[in-house]
Parts: sequence; structure tokens; C-alpha cells
Amino acid sequence: MKKRDFLTLQGFTANEISEILELTRKFKENSLGIDEESILSGKSIVLLFQKHSTRTRVSFEVAVNQLGGYPICLGWRESQLGRGETIADTARVLSRYVGAIVARVYKHSDLEEMARYANIPVINALSDMYHPCQIVADLYTIWEKFGSLKGLKVAYIGDGNNVCNSLLIGCSKMGIDLSIACPSGYEPSDEAVRFAEKNLKESGSKIRILRDPYEACIDADVIYTDTFVSMGKEAEREERLSIFLPKYQVNSELLKVASDKVLFMHCLPAHRNEEVTDEVIDGPHSVVWDEAENRLHTAKAILAMTLRRDLRFS
Ligand code: CP
Ligand code: NVA
Repeated sequence: MKKRDFLTLQGFTANEISEILELTRKFKENSLGIDEESILSGKSIVLLFQKHSTRTRVSFEVAVNQLGGYPICLGWRESQLGRGETIADTARVLSRYVGAIVARVYKHSDLEEMARYANIPVINALSDMYHPCQIVADLYTIWEKFGSLKGLKVAYIGDGNNVCNSLLIGCSKMGIDLSIACPSGYEPSDEAVRFAEKNLKESGSKIRILRDPYEACIDADVIYTDTFVSMGKEAEREERLSIFLPKYQVNSELLKVASDKVLFMHCLPAHRNEEVTDEVIDGPHSVVWDEAENRLHTAKAILAMTLRRDLRFS
């Protein structure tokens, strides 16, 4: 069986993404019909982190455990990678020990290199370009709350970063209309926009990249934001805050132009009173804790479908 990496959602069809969501539902509702612990029984999984993480690291560690596997958390710097052993050599060696590598890296190209040399699946736990595991949890959360995805309107406000790039791909695959409002120079990547334009020909969704957050949020079903200062951009913090604030902050005024039932979403960690006010993140429209919980259920589905292909088709 050919291995299947999980580096971006662009590598998966809308049907396959729906299958991941359906499998997630079964995990969450305990209706899988087989013993969960048998899924990764006897398998070890490396969780390799070059950057900080709370949700991704803990949800994957718990997911591997609950699926009967053994998670091995490895810090980039503590491994020989931190002393210059190549990614290719590391990937070859880890492939002899474990069933998959879940890796968070600075450079997406490092992940691609790892996937090229590993003969086990590599799962993207966030890179500078993409955060596909997050977007699967977000799609699941939206699906869970609205009962469908197609035709919904999502507004993403702020930095056109890794989360925004993956949201572009996820929404355009699943037929969700996405309006992004960002400052000039902080648009999503050209590659993600190209992928989205290709996807929307099939899904029929509409994608807009705007400057005005109010225009993006009119009648929105979901308003989504993320930090203005992603990991690796700390040196630009002051400059970024002066560009993004106050215009791109999600606050109660902005929510007023959206649908009455609008959901507020954030991948977290939140930088309270920067990209979102306390009032919004702690308010009645916020679903951020359900969204965070869904990282666990979706991590299980991603692991299961990556390592046990028989579970992918119901
Ligand atoms: N949302 C997310 O990926 O969080 P962590 O950085 O805590 O893993
Ligand atoms: N865009 C953020 C996401 C954190 C989960 C970052 O890359 O730091």
C-alpha cells in the first residue's frame, strides 16, 4: 500500500475530506463499531516539534494513546536534528522504528523533504505555509454546528498566514464561500490562492480577498481570526500591530454586520484584545473551546485514515 502523507488539504478530494469528518463524528460519538484501541495497536508515532505547541501536541499524544499506540514526543533541538543531522537521514531512520511522523516545522519545504525520504506517512502539525489539521477541526466544528458546509459564508479577518492558507483550501474544496479581509502585503500565499481558484471551479464556492473587515463580515455565518504575529514573526511584532490594529480586530461592532447566529472561531492561542476582544472570545457566539476539543477527535480520524486505510471508506 502506497503511503499517504498529510501535508496540505490540497492533496485530498472533497469526498475524502468528508470521510475524515464522518470518521471524526464516529470517534466523537463513540459509534465507530470497532475497538478504538485496536487501531494503532503495536504502533509508535513520533511527534516532532520545532516550535511551541499546546493543542496539537497534547491532542495528538492523547489521540495516539486512545487509539492504542505509543506516542514519542521529540523536540527538534533535543534530537540530533538540532546538531545538524539532515532531515533526510532522520526520516530514513525514524521510518525503521515508527508508523508515522507528526511534525511541526518552520519551513514547509523541510516537511516536504521529510515526506520524500520517509517511507511512512508524514502529517503536517503546522508549517509556515499550512496548518491542515487545524482546518479539519474547524470544518468539523462548522459542520457540527450548522449540519452542512456547502453555501455557508466564512469571513477570515487578519493575517493571510498558514491558517488562512489552509482555510482557503479547505473552504474552496468544500463549497464554503470565504471572504478574507487583510492589509496590503499580508495576503494569503499565491500558491494557496492558486489552489483555491482551481478548487472553486469544482465546488462552486466564492473566494474574495478584501481590505475592509466590515465588507467581509456582512451576513457571515462564521467569523474567524488568528494571531497577527505567528511563530517565527516575533521580530515584526510592533510593526505588525501598528498595521493590523485597530482596523482588523474582531470586536462586538464587527459581529453586528454578520448573521444573527454567527459563530466566532479562532485556532488559538488567542492574543486577547489584539486580534479579538475578550467580549467576543468569551461571548455567546464563540465556539473556540468546542473547536479546540475537536482537534482531538479530528487527530484520531487523521491518524486512523493515514495508517489504517481500511477505515477510510465506510
Ligand atoms: N491551534 C494550534 O495549533 O495550537 P497549538 O499551537 O497550541 O498546537
Ligand atoms: N498562525 C499561528 C498559528 C498557531 C496555531 C502560528 O503559526 O503561530
